[in-house]
Amino acid sequence: MLTLGIESSCDETACAIVEGERVVRSSVVASQFELHAMFGGVVPEIASRAHAERVLPIIQRAMDEAGATREDLSLIAVGHRPGLIGSLLIGLTAAKALSWSWGLPLVGVDHVHAHLHAADLGRDTPPDYPALGLVVSGGHSSIYRVAAPAQMQRLGATIDDAIGEAFDKAAAILRLPQPGGPAIDALAREPDADDRAFDFPVSRLGKDSLDLSFSGLKTAVLYEVNGRPQPRKVPGKPELRAEPPEPLTDVRRRDIAASFQRAAVRAITVKLERALEHAPGVRTLIAGGGVCANSRLRVELESFAEAKGLQLRIPPMAYCVDNAAMIAGLGRVLHARGESADLTLEAVPTTSA
Ligand code: KG4
Ligand code: ZN
Repeated sequence: MLTLGIESSCDETACAIVEGERVVRSSVVASQFELHAMFGGVVPEIASRAHAERVLPIIQRAMDEAGATREDLSLIAVGHRPGLIGSLLIGLTAAKALSWSWGLPLVGVDHVHAHLHAADLGRDTPPDYPALGLVVSGGHSSIYRVAAPAQMQRLGATIDDAIGEAFDKAAAILRLPQPGGPAIDALAREPDADDRAFDFPVSRLGKDSLDLSFSGLKTAVLYEVNGRPQPRKVPGKPELRAEPPEPLTDVRRRDIAASFQRAAVRAITVKLERALEHAPGVRTLIAGGGVCANSRLRVELESFAEAKGLQLRIPPMAYCVDNAAMIAGLGRVLHARGESADLTLEAVPTTSA
């Protein structure tokens, strides 16, 4: 019962072979990070060309590493939404070609749903439902009530930047290397880092909102590093002078990173706390997405789950960021439930979650 999964929604070309719903036989991820670095963000055209060059060798490697042949496979799963349309199309076309030529059933998987399945990989049993779901990545920051795998109701989502995007932008402002999340995490973990040195805002968006916002926090970091914008001179009024920023020493950079991370993580736990009131009876907290690799978020989610009497399901580091094992595993769950697709399956830029 091996599934071959393909993921190409953004700038990672990935293929994995998964046994059943949770046992990873191989997971190969080719990052395009170096191709986009000089542009300061993912360039869609470059991403799709790189996917086209890499997808077949990556599939071959995943098959080799799993020691699998065509005869061992019984399903092809592909991430077909959400993502960059040109990128999705490459993985989807490869998946359709394999499904057709090898005569294997095909199933389409929503990448956001799959991030929550990542927490199941390598585990013996599925989680208890209903659950609270948290997806925190470079493109998504959302909280769900999850009734069963891929059956989720969105309770709240970011109204501006995703949390991973905020980590990446804050790191750029601090002149740290990209991707910014791991760079900020590393600085904040330094023994003398002071996460209270700067009182950055924790967005709450009114007392009942379950939505998230990270643009104010990002702007607070910008002002701290570059100084506040000069107020405009009004004719006839005395000139207002903005304070110039303090030089960005290593200590300041480290403490800004730690304080940013504290505020960003706090914004999540505040909303999880509220979400629990809207999702009575949940037994598990399932987290997924690249930002789940963050050391502070992992610790805080553990304390949160313990305090609330919830089981915590969070992926091991390798399956936090984009990968195809989560696509293959969830594809198997969906197929067992009777879902399947044919060659008309489309790439869709938005999530269904
Ligand atoms: O899930 P992912 O690989 O891609 C999307 O679906 O968006 O997430 C990538 C994001 C990036 O923004 C990256 O900076 C962030 O995950 N990230 C982290 C850490 N590791 C990766 N953010 C905070 N702390 C980390 N340790
Ligand atoms: Zn992702």
